[in-house]
Amino acid sequence: MQIETGVSLKPLNSFGLPATARQLVRIRSDADVRQVLDHPELGLAPKFILGGGSNVILTRDMPELVLKVEVMGLRVLRQTADAVVVEAGAGERWHDLVAWCIQQGLGGLENLALIPGTVGAAPVQNIGAYGLELKDRFESLDTVDLVTGRAVTLFPDQCEFGYRDSVFKRGLAGRSVITRLRLRLPKPWQPVLGYLDLERKMAETGNHAPDARTIFDWVCEIRRAKLPDPAVIGNVGSFFKNPVVTPEQCRDIIARDPHIVHYPMPDGTFKLAAGWMIDACGWKGKTIGHAGVYDKQALVLVNRGGAVGSEVQTLARAIQESVYGRFGIRLEPEPIMV
Ligand code: EPU
Repeated sequence: MQIETGVSLKPLNSFGLPATARQLVRIRSDADVRQVLDHPELGLAPKFILGGGSNVILTRDMPELVLKVEVMGLRVLRQTADAVVVEAGAGERWHDLVAWCIQQGLGGLENLALIPGTVGAAPVQNIGAYGLELKDRFESLDTVDLVTGRAVTLFPDQCEFGYRDSVFKRGLAGRSVITRLRLRLPKPWQPVLGYLDLERKMAETGNHAPDARTIFDWVCEIRRAKLPDPAVIGNVGSFFKNPVVTPEQCRDIIARDPHIVHYPMPDGTFKLAAGWMIDACGWKGKTIGHAGVYDKQALVLVNRGGAVGSEVQTLARAIQESVYGRFGIRLEPEPIMV
């Protein structure tokens, strides 16, 4: 085990925010976690688990021991009559897993193409896009408990998945290192096409029966057209969750703002498009300090170059206040603020 000191986290978070880790250890296997826990000094030190750094806003240097998860590997674990189960190391890039599945002829994850971050981070916030969430394909994951050192496999119910939420953001936050993820790709493959942007692609191309690779290509095109590439412009994807409100609240808001974009949920509640609300408050393209609101999608905050975490926080608060002032809705950030 190698302990790195004074490590710059700037290249390790997708917003490109400056912060230094006092100590950092790369985790390449379950055994690496146990070595850290058995270490006379590091064993009891407070720890921070870092994946692809695409869902974190760093506002300070990290006195905690940073565990950078780099467990690799992609494989088909088993095939059954009704599914193919694939297994991926938590350190693999999520998009590489999706692209690898498509190359193997395995459909099922294509709607989740190009989501930044690692495989291990995907279940933490139950990533989702274009009508599909990670939980819809989830089979199980392996963790090492940072308190007991025990390897534990968790199944769907134990992960408590919700909209951009899981037990790893609550009860198990900072406690479990996710090392491997298993996904169940149902057989026969069926496309998930309900989402408006995909329906538009079908109408544009005249292809009403796209295969998995075509949907993969479409999702990549749609995302590239409206979301910034973190390798070019620092960002963490959607900065706020789409708020969920009661039918009464939704009716109230529609009475005041008839054009608000809203979607009925299966449980009778309504999801409001936070991007639409931020846009309606005039934030698109605006900048505070070195942090700004992306000009093609108001839900995404971007690094205009040289941003620091506190500027991102200031911008996020200003947006929250104006959305609250106009709509009476409190927007909740999606990334973890550290
Ligand atoms: N809209 C505006 N102005 C804007 C942005 C959006 O009017 O500046 C409107 C759009 O026209 C559309 C509605 O708001 O009618 C929703 O926008 P979009 O379809 O782009 O999706 P979103 O709600 O902004 C969510 C996810 C994305 C995911 C897309 C596609 C959340 C917080 N975000 O975005 O996830 O890719 O749907 O499924 O749920 C992420 O989490 O990082 C992410 C990118």
